Amino acid sequence: MKIEIKNICCIGAGYVGGPTMAVIADRCHDIQINVVDVNENRIQAWNSENLSHLPIYEPNLDQVIKRRRGRNLHFSTEIKYHISNADMIFISVNTPTKTKGIGAGKASDLKWVEASARQVSKYAKGETIVVEKSTLPVKTALMIRQILETSLEKTNDSQTDNKQFYVLSNPEFLSEGTAIQDLECPDRVLIGGENQEAIKALVNIYLNWVDKEKILTTDLWSSELSKLIANAFLAQRISSINSISALCEATGADVKEVSTAIGADKRIGNYFLNASPGFGGSCFKKDILNLVYICNYYGLHEVSEYWQKIIDINNWQKQRILRVIVEKLFGSVSGKKLAILGFAFKANTNDTRESAAIHICNELIIEGGNLYIYDPRVTRKQIEEDLEISENEYSYGGEGSWTFADSILDASRGADAVIVLTEWDEFKNIEWSEISTVMRSPSWLFDTRSITDQSEAKRCGMKLWSLGCGSKLQSINLMPS
Ligand code: NAD
Ligand code: UDX
Repeated sequence: MKIEIKNICCIGAGYVGGPTMAVIADRCHDIQINVVDVNENRIQAWNSENLSHLPIYEPNLDQVIKRRRGRNLHFSTEIKYHISNADMIFISVNTPTKTKGIGAGKASDLKWVEASARQVSKYAKGETIVVEKSTLPVKTALMIRQILETSLEKTNDSQTDNKQFYVLSNPEFLSEGTAIQDLECPDRVLIGGENQEAIKALVNIYLNWVDKEKILTTDLWSSELSKLIANAFLAQRISSINSISALCEATGADVKEVSTAIGADKRIGNYFLNASPGFGGSCFKKDILNLVYICNYYGLHEVSEYWQKIIDINNWQKQRILRVIVEKLFGSVSGKKLAILGFAFKANTNDTRESAAIHICNELIIEGGNLYIYDPRVTRKQIEEDLEISENEYSYGGEGSWTFADSILDASRGADAVIVLTEWDEFKNIEWSEISTVMRSPSWLFDTRSITDQSEAKRCGMKLWSLGCGSKLQSINLMPS
């Protein structure tokens, strides 16, 4: 058997499906790619003439779309039709944490994966390679295979066509904000499977632009599990450095200096050591929760508790920052104007899923703060959805509210504090001489990403709290005996 891939269908036109298929289309001009989704608005946005209206913001994504859309890259809601024409089908649908029933709050909700597999089972024709692109619990390929096989039994009865399925795992490691760069120059591509010809067909696609040495092939379960573990290890580094940020503040050390010093050791490495208000994004929390669930399922309770701590520290960090802000502002933010700079979970994306800003802003509103929120890419509508509070409405029966701001200056006018929550480049070069004059005194800067020009802010008379930066006065304290 030799499977030639001429037509790909990707189910799910989200943050992974859209950019991943765009890059494959850009590198493989002789393959026709159809990205399908049940969400009509999303597909419409992918097809919009104006490239600034694409449903997601990623640097350089618009250029790739411009080059390939309408040529070998298409976005459509014709799911059945494109499944039936495909030689290879990527399942790239959402796999959020279950909110109800068995495993609620921990296990992955696989209903969208199951629905996709059922559609593939029903409409695919001939030999089809089904690729898991979504992040999935280990052994999901078994479920997909079982669903696909149900149609084989039925097909054999009616003898309508000659279906054959091969399931592969090909998890995606892109990060938002650098998705195109990550897809074009991946550290590795991971492919798990059993059928060598099917694996070869997918390897051949990546060989169009990825070095052979970077394409790792393995079995299905190792591939599925590696994706969860990669995310767990990355998140673990952030919780580790965030826990140390608190110790730095207590002892007078500076977490940035500590990161630099430990990161210089090749065995540790200098990536993912930036202290922050806590990791956000759609992946880390859900994937670790899923790992915790799987470990418990297999009776590995100590392992499960170990990984749960990564999430506990992440939650604690957000709460700790909130407490610092309230305490520094004389113990109350009630009726005070606070400028919030950044709402996305990281810079260079409009994605706000699990952003630390959501929790911190909600809690500040409960405390009675009047927030003026500015983010270069996040829309007013998105903030409203995330906070679940209408703009300019008093909430929780108190004085707290939020308002959308069009600029840093707009957010800061009359504010008691500027609170930096996302590391956008724009916040690195704020003109503090201008901002400090429009604020109310004493004016505070809370920098939870340590990215602003802090000496300039201080020079302009602002009071400063920077995450993980111990006060020089505290540094003379000796270790408690
Ligand atoms: P997303 O929510 O942005 O997109 C998923 C899309 O799938 C949605 O548009 C939804 O409408 C569509 N969909 C769901 N069921 C469908 C069906 N039956 N038929 C057609 N369309 C359907 O999600 P995402 O961020 O792209 O993540 C997708 C998967 O990739 C998840 O498993 C996630 O864990 C994983 N992942 C995400 C990232 C990331 O940075 N976002 C990175 C690596 C892996
Ligand atoms: C992550 C993984 O990095 C990626 O490989 C996987 O495919 C999807 O999940 P993503 O969530 O898009 O990617 O962004 P990432 O850069 O990992 O950042 C996640 C969160 O961690 C952000 O909130 C970010 O601000 C935070 N972070 C990251 C830190 O707090 N400190 C760091 O040093 C790095």
